[in-house]
Amino acid sequence: MLIDQLKSRIRGFVYLIICICLVKTFVMYKWANGTFYTDAYYIRRSEEALRANQLLSRRYMLSNVKLSTNSYVKHDTIGPTQLGRFQRENATLLMLVRNEELAGALRAMRSLEDRFNKNYHYDWIFLNDVPFEDIFIETTSAMASGITKYAVVPSSDWSTPNWIDQDLYARQREYMTKIKVLHGESESYRNMCRFYSGFFFRQEVLDNYDYYFRVEPDVEYFCDFSYDPFKIMKEQNKKYGFVISLHEYEDTIPTLWEAVDEYIQEDEGYDIDMENNIFDFIIQEDSISSAKVFDSNSDYNLCHFWTNFEIADLNFFRSDKYLRFFNYLDSKGGFYYERWGDAPIHTIAASLFLRPDEVIHFEQIGYKHSPYFACPSAYSYRLNQRCLCDYAGTGNIHLEAISCLQEWWKWGGGKTFMSNY
Ligand SMILES: *[C@@H]1O[C@H](CO)[C@@H](O)[C@H](O)[C@H]1NC(C)=O
Repeated sequence: MLIDQLKSRIRGFVYLIICICLVKTFVMYKWANGTFYTDAYYIRRSEEALRANQLLSRRYMLSNVKLSTNSYVKHDTIGPTQLGRFQRENATLLMLVRNEELAGALRAMRSLEDRFNKNYHYDWIFLNDVPFEDIFIETTSAMASGITKYAVVPSSDWSTPNWIDQDLYARQREYMTKIKVLHGESESYRNMCRFYSGFFFRQEVLDNYDYYFRVEPDVEYFCDFSYDPFKIMKEQNKKYGFVISLHEYEDTIPTLWEAVDEYIQEDEGYDIDMENNIFDFIIQEDSISSAKVFDSNSDYNLCHFWTNFEIADLNFFRSDKYLRFFNYLDSKGGFYYERWGDAPIHTIAASLFLRPDEVIHFEQIGYKHSPYFACPSAYSYRLNQRCLCDYAGTGNIHLEAISCLQEWWKWGGGKTFMSNY
């Protein structure tokens, strides 16, 4: 009797256990299929991602793996096998910066070092209109993987020329402030724009280099560089490289195009080769969007390379052509009476004097200078180069109407894909 009772209890208990096990298996099955986001689910997903990434990140071990990137660069020049060689070009990183911008300078340096320069140790050059403080020199030297050099810009390269009419200059600053032009009141901003237009490449500390890479405080580089941009410049005979191109605020340059037009007339084809230059890029409208977002009062379509990122051949700026162009524009006084930026100046010069194949769009470099950023469009590339950017986020220049990339593709250097190689 007692035995029977015990047997039926045990049987009941066993059924209960089996029941619990079945339910648990069912629930586990659902979890494992992603119905419930539990540890098991995430472990499985991360193992999958790891396998996928192993293939990607080991691509250099395979021969001729083709990335699904829109790269302009031949794929055999991409990849860690190249990074191992630490071969440097005749080039330097360049930052014009104030003592009080130290924190931002260090952030930008850290980003570029981690993403690129730690493998190359290119020199850093810092320029300022006043001497750098010890703390600036110490901390930036510590942050750099290469040699650091510091120089003070001579006041003759950083001040209003004596032929500028001071009363007119003051009235114009007041007017620009009133119509809310960005930095409309600032004298030092104007000095900076003129310095970057006509004087930075004449600083003695740059004499020993062919190429420079302009860096500004607080910028960020989103991805591991998959190549040395200086090497690309050298090997492909590029004179000018950019990441972002956009429309200029016309209020800063009301008479710039008049001056450029005059210059072109007076040049009579001596320096400017209209048959082979990139003139169309700065005068043609984007034919893709029907609405004209950026109305211009002149033939200039306001497109310019955003020069806060700039990799270029210093010898282009040192050339007689460029100097003649700069001196002509400078004599008009527009750097002061208006607020001509170095970006339209560099861009117009490149468009007048260079061939389309001498300018490169570095599509693979993820870069941010508030309020805009550029994030490589290929997902596999973003994974592979450990990019930290939100392609769909606000501020992605390629998704903004202000971008001039469409104009560049259509009227400038065009767009090539890896499949072209
Ligand atoms: C680097 O560039 C400068 C300026 O063009 C030049 O004078 C110098 O000879 C170059 N150095 C090397 C090693 O090529």
